[in-house]
Amino acid sequence: MSKDWTPQSWRDKPVKQLPVYKDGEALKAAEREIAAMPPLVFAGEARELMRKLGQVSEGKGFLLQGGDCAESFAEFNANKIRDSFRVLLQMAVVLTYSGSLPVVKVGRMAGQYAKPRSDDMETKGDVSLPSYRGDNINALDFTPEAREPDPQRMIKGYNQAAATLNLLRAFASGGYADLNKVHQWNLGFVENSPLGERYQDLADRIDDALRFMAACGITADNVPSIRETSFYTSHEALLLPYEEAMTRVDSLTGEWYDTSAHFLWIGARTHQEDHAQIEFARGVKNPIGLKCSPAISPDELVRLIDVLNPENIPGRLTLIARMGYKQVEEKLAPLIRKVKEEGRDVIWSCDPMHGNTIKSNSGYKTRPFDRILSEVRGFFAVHRAEGTHPGGIHIEMTGQDVTECVGGADAIGDEDLSNRYHTHCDPRLNANQALELAFLISDELKALRLRSPNLRAVSPSAAE
Ligand code: PEP
Ligand code: CO
Repeated sequence: MSKDWTPQSWRDKPVKQLPVYKDGEALKAAEREIAAMPPLVFAGEARELMRKLGQVSEGKGFLLQGGDCAESFAEFNANKIRDSFRVLLQMAVVLTYSGSLPVVKVGRMAGQYAKPRSDDMETKGDVSLPSYRGDNINALDFTPEAREPDPQRMIKGYNQAAATLNLLRAFASGGYADLNKVHQWNLGFVENSPLGERYQDLADRIDDALRFMAACGITADNVPSIRETSFYTSHEALLLPYEEAMTRVDSLTGEWYDTSAHFLWIGARTHQEDHAQIEFARGVKNPIGLKCSPAISPDELVRLIDVLNPENIPGRLTLIARMGYKQVEEKLAPLIRKVKEEGRDVIWSCDPMHGNTIKSNSGYKTRPFDRILSEVRGFFAVHRAEGTHPGGIHIEMTGQDVTECVGGADAIGDEDLSNRYHTHCDPRLNANQALELAFLISDELKALRLRSPNLRAVSPSAAE
């Protein structure tokens, strides 16, 4: 048990980015209601994810983490969940095939509602209102009523997360993720694109391999990992009243787990060592992520690592670097070097989204796809130079055919952004762009495999 820690101990620390609820009693009532709800995930599942991430930290796997910037209550439906899930499956298959590495799949799904904001207020003309902070806090409409934090939204968030997770579990283990269906994961609008063709080609090769294996007696009937996959959930541990209410003692180990998701991360705006979000995260035993922006120094990072993972457990901590394409090499190298020198066991993951956000001429927040690719290339280059493992990717994406990030195979231009700009927060990769990115990473992983023969000796158990 972590020293002097309780699920409430964050309340004695300074805190940023939390809403101020007008009605304290209503907040307490909502917290009590959530605390009485069943857990969404089991401690044993979080431990299993940690074990797999431990293998990733040893260079024997790759972490694929992706989903919406902010899930919304309004755009909640089965098709949307299925489409994001299947693009993640497609990406995973591309990465597994070319990299010959087990891919650990984690969705930014089933709970990614609360958003940190750069500004507390949003101004339109001469009206200023509190910023939108995510659907489990307030609503997006630009009215004073919509922007008022409402604790009942946490309960709606819990219920939506439960329904989403239920569907994800069914997709993962009910036959949808069967490798024999690899062709069917291609979405209609992707099928006719150059990426779709490249994917079909790869799916043909997987079919061949499966036929060969079946002829040797290896089928989905005797090897379940052909028929089903493991899929984990994650979100930013920002809204601490909710996270606290979801934190329970595991009856098997007596340890505390945040049962709102398998994996929780701390955002770039809330990782002050002595602040509430770090305090909360240090005591729960789930795998934890820490966003690393260019503002973080090597010494500060090592201090944070020691707070979050004092026993240096492999798989406990994923450092998610979001440096921006220009600064990635310059800012990441000293961090990697320091962490390596100090012998700290971490997974390095690349978030190529949050350091590459710009305002387009048409006024939309967007991310140029070539900058996203450039940051990913830079991330791999730094790890190559430092001799460390580029362990994962963290992206904002959707299975829908949105027009939010400019560029990519469809050459989305500034003038196209208004066509299908649906995000509630940051611009996401659409299915085509996500697949294109997966192919770029698969090329990098392939090159890595050819350079590092020991990567070939992977344990299949990380892949399931
Ligand atoms: C996010 O992941 O949506 C986010 C806000 O990221 P960051 O904390 O890195 O800015
Ligand atoms: Co975001």
